[in-house]
Amino acid sequence: MEITKLQLYSYRNYLSCEVNFDSGLNVICGENAQGKTNLLEAVYFCVVGKSFRASREKEVINLNSDIAKIKVYIKKDIGESTVEIIFSRKQKKTIKINGIPIKKISELLGEFNGVFFSPDELKLIKESPEDRRRFMDIDISQTSKQYFYLLSRYNQILQNRNKQLKANISLADLKNIMKIWNEQLSECALKIAKFRQNFVLTLAPYAKNAHSYLTDGKEDLSIEYVGIKENTKQEIINVLEKNLDKDLALGYTSYGPHRDDIKVSINNVDVRTFGSQGQQRTCALSLKLAELNILENVTNTKPVLLLDDVLSELDDNRKKRLLEYCKNTQTLITCTEFDYNINCKKIIIKNGNIIQNEKNQ
Ligand SMILES: Nc1ncnc2c1ncn2[C@@H]1O[C@H](COP(=O)(O)OP(=O)(O)OP(=O)(O)O)[C@@H](O)[C@H]1O
Ligand SMILES: [Mg+2]
Repeated sequence: MEITKLQLYSYRNYLSCEVNFDSGLNVICGENAQGKTNLLEAVYFCVVGKSFRASREKEVINLNSDIAKIKVYIKKDIGESTVEIIFSRKQKKTIKINGIPIKKISELLGEFNGVFFSPDELKLIKESPEDRRRFMDIDISQTSKQYFYLLSRYNQILQNRNKQLKANISLADLKNIMKIWNEQLSECALKIAKFRQNFVLTLAPYAKNAHSYLTDGKEDLSIEYVGIKENTKQEIINVLEKNLDKDLALGYTSYGPHRDDIKVSINNVDVRTFGSQGQQRTCALSLKLAELNILENVTNTKPVLLLDDVLSELDDNRKKRLLEYCKNTQTLITCTEFDYNINCKKIIIKNGNIIQNEKNQ
């Protein structure tokens, strides 16, 4: 799968622009604050249907406009398609696939696959388990709509259960109500845990390989799913029942996939606590490259790799190895300076305008 063209209209600091991409490496170059990240944000918007940085989506609309538009042209192994997103200050955004509006965001999943990486992704290693759960969820959802539905169902049941924990009812009544919620929650929980376990098991060897490649064999990366150990629905129900007093005191459900995590180690040492900045960065990158491999395997087509500002973060050796690694995947990479004499397409951006969109050599 490849993106051949991107069109933007009144999107952030772009008034109107069109960019063409090549199959291999596409380098998006420009000074600070010119619109490089905005461009990647727009592309990734079409992958997941939301922004990786705007919590209020209307902020992507150019300050002097009332609407904004993103359109990507996708070349697939068989055929072509377009994904279009139209933002308006007054209405909800509209997403169209091949010109036809979709009703639910889940219809977009799988239409255009991509993996995004920015220095911000460091939080994948450093920050709370929530970031690592989001990582699993986005990935698994891209390859399984069933998982996507399962997750929203789980969250809904969890919310209901938590509401009951805070409600002022007698213990006997509560125990009765909990029977229903525990039954439903445990069913979803078990399925989600299985999905995630499998995901991490599949991811682990790819991440190990990518990391070994980037570090020239110096570092051994391992990852592990940390979550539900129970193997049956009944075992999960037992834990939920056992925890009732504790949950009542806390006012929320203390056990379940919403507390899952991934443990990341280099040479058997926990990276989150002991890793250097560079190691943590490389780890996050290795996880993303592994993600790309998995998506490729499951969907039978290579996703697009979107790398924001990663080069400035790595030492020369790791930089070169990364670019080498990206050669066989369509990659859109941003940087402030690019002086490598390699075969790529160079896109130069100045103040929301594309001033060059040509081959480097
Ligand atoms: N809705 C908007 N309307 C107009 N301009 C906007 C809007 N949202 C963001 N911008 C502007 O877009 C500019 C470019 O942002 P972007 O993050 O893409 O820069 P960049 O090229 O990635 O820079 P850096 O190298 O610092 O990462 C910013 O100066 C910002 O003010
Ligand atoms: Mg940027």
